[in-house]
Amino acid sequence: PPPRHEPSGPPSANFEYIIAEKRGKNNTVGLIQLNRPKALNALCNGLMKELNQALKTFQEDPAVGAIVLTGGEKAFAAGADIKEMQNLSFQECYSHQFLSHWDSVTQVKKPVIAAVNGYALGGGCELAMMCDIIYAGEKAQFGQPEILLGTIPGAGGTQRLTRAVGKSLAMEMVLTGDRISAQDAKQAGTGWHCLHRARPKRVLMLTKKSSMWKFERNWASTCLSPFSYQDDRREGMAAFVEKRKANFRDQ
Ligand code: HXC
Repeated sequence: PPPRHEPSGPPSANFEYIIAEKRGKNNTVGLIQLNRPKALNALCNGLMKELNQALKTFQEDPAVGAIVLTGGEKAFAAGADIKEMQNLSFQECYSHQFLSHWDSVTQVKKPVIAAVNGYALGGGCELAMMCDIIYAGEKAQFGQPEILLGTIPGAGGTQRLTRAVGKSLAMEMVLTGDRISAQDAKQAGTGWHCLHRARPKRVLMLTKKSSMWKFERNWASTCLSPFSYQDDRREGMAAFVEKRKANFRDQ
């Protein structure tokens, strides 16, 4: 299995996808800014490795009391990198422990604060929710749009969202892929709406079935399996990359 953290380096290391520096009086804040704006901070493997390295460095630095994780004006992070995942096979996911290095934020012993503006979608929303506190700017948009790609959240979305906004709104969000604003998130827990939009049904069921922590990651890999769910997931991801509407077979 891949190591939980990459070897540590100085926070000022020349990262490609993030900026990490100490800020504040006495340098007590470790600031990590996701910095891949052209891809709306999509969380590619390289970015996740750098993020883990910066987290480890700040965790070990006695001067740092808390860590702030942020993105840009338009996007905190628009999710896992769809282009990177598009052609992944189930075998590759299984043998390389797909998404296993994603939850390093939850292992950090210092407070981690997410400062979110713009899109926090899919893995981006999950990453924000792994933090201890979320501060959302006016333009923040939270969502778990995996269903629109023919797949399901894979890094805790079905669980943490339920705790964050309540079951009804969380289920609405994961089953429709709809986003909520920072204001909506503030008043969360009261929504109760009918689902009337076409979504791939088998994947909907999988989303529901993932209501237990330990199953979620496995079911997420199943979406990439050569068996039943593959067609819809392939179509969903291909449609995104080709900038067209998905044509799910199993509506
Ligand atoms: C790869 C992404 C991306 C992503 C955006 N981009 N999101 N690339 N992975 N998640 C890229 C686009 O391809 C495009 O690059 C550039 O960023 C700008 O995006 P646009 O779509 O042109 O911007 P806009 O029209 O403003 O729309 C913004 C958006 C949209 C609504 C956020 O980009 C979007 O829907 N993104 C995907 C969101 C999503 O589905 N996230 C969940 C991913 S799955 P090019 O060069 O092509 O123009 C996930 C977990 C899966 O997180 C785990 C289980 C399997």
